[in-house]
Amino acid sequence: MSETLTVTDNRTGKTYELPVTDGTIRAMDLRQIKTGPNDFGLMTYDPAFMNTANCRSTITDIDGAKGILLYRGYPIEQLAEHSNYLETAYVLLHGELPTTSALQTWRRDITVHTMLHENMKKFMEGFRYDAHPMGIFLSTVGALSTFYPDAKQILNTELRQLHIRRLIAKVPSIAAYAFRHSVGRPYVYPDNDLSFTGNFLNMLFRVGEAKFQPNPVLAQALDVLFILHADHEQNCSTSTMRNIGSSHVDPYSALAGAAAALYGPLHGGANEAVLRMLNEIGSLSNVPNFIKGVKAGEGQNRLMGFGHRVYKSYDPRAKVIKKIADLVFTVTGKNPLLEIALELERIALQDDYFVSRKLYPNVDFYSGLIYQAMGFPVEMFPVLFAIPRTAGWIAQWEEMLLDPEQKIARPRQIYTGAHARAYVSVEKRG
Ligand code: CMC
Repeated sequence: MSETLTVTDNRTGKTYELPVTDGTIRAMDLRQIKTGPNDFGLMTYDPAFMNTANCRSTITDIDGAKGILLYRGYPIEQLAEHSNYLETAYVLLHGELPTTSALQTWRRDITVHTMLHENMKKFMEGFRYDAHPMGIFLSTVGALSTFYPDAKQILNTELRQLHIRRLIAKVPSIAAYAFRHSVGRPYVYPDNDLSFTGNFLNMLFRVGEAKFQPNPVLAQALDVLFILHADHEQNCSTSTMRNIGSSHVDPYSALAGAAAALYGPLHGGANEAVLRMLNEIGSLSNVPNFIKGVKAGEGQNRLMGFGHRVYKSYDPRAKVIKKIADLVFTVTGKNPLLEIALELERIALQDDYFVSRKLYPNVDFYSGLIYQAMGFPVEMFPVLFAIPRTAGWIAQWEEMLLDPEQKIARPRQIYTGAHARAYVSVEKRG
């Protein structure tokens, strides 16, 4: 069987044979299909990239129909059970599980970069008292590029690796400072004796104690949540990271753009939207009416935390999160909104509207409930997503940089506006 596609252009009667590789044809192979010498050639039209592969990648594999998620081949459930976030970040970036000594070195190399430059504090103090922490986060990540001008040397392997480690190490510190700023508390310096998530909890919640002792269950839960959020192949923010990075800007500027993409309610802002939705529903008795409203497209016309572009079955991350929720609630007490969420899920999973559209809970349906129970305000939720996703963004960015097939990203368009016409002076326009 030949791995080709035969295309007959009925406009000209000509036939073309296009190679099929990995289940795709190259869009550029269509360019030869022309009606005449002045024809630009055939293009594909694919708004929102519904059916376009933008890269070859060896990082994350998703089987949306079966609900499978693999980082470098390792199933997400196994990483959630046996790994920790820093090790997972290493796997995403290096492709393999680290040896014992490589893991120790990696941990040390990240830990030494957790401090922020003192001027960063001043920069963050400039934000209004009620600034959204995600706005602070993405601006501050962007501002980091001004602190490290040599980060522009993206093709220098040693420098690139240094800034990769800096980014992974510093995003929790920025996130914690953004949180402390929004609640009017003094910034807390990192405690490098603690684990990655233990130290993050220290920077967030330490008040007067000499040494903060993170609750091990909460630190572990946060670690698992970080693993689950670390990468998700070519989603909106990751393709933004690749797109911005394709102009060869420094990684801090590209990551600020990726974080901005994540901020939106259809992406990383969804867990914040889930909590608002659950609060709005208010009680179990209002659930059926709310579902009716969603189906009729009234008001808030989506069931937030449901549906996914890729998963057409239960999101495997949501399954792990549901288990973590039980663990966290044994420490924090049950989140009262949990009952409403469970009832929404129960009804939606039986309702033909959701079943026929293959809408299942996604990662964000339960993560917000856990974060809220741990004491995070909803505004922090997208920030909590951005910290671990930093590993995925950088791994994807580096893969793009080193891929000889990649160039500056530049989509085409179908122009549907006015034809060339003469400018009319304002007096003559009536
Ligand atoms: N509630 C109600 N209806 C929905 C929902 C929902 N959450 N999601 C999709 N639909 C309907 C949609 O109206 C459409 O119906 P119809 O065919 O009658 O027009 C059909 O399902 C297909 O939807 P779509 O908008 O074409 O699907 P998409 O792949 O473009 O959107 C999505 C994916 C995640 C943006 C969408 O499902 C959504 O808005 N969900 C709620 C927001 C959310 O939870 N986002 C978090 C995503 S997971 C975290 C991440 O990776 O960022």
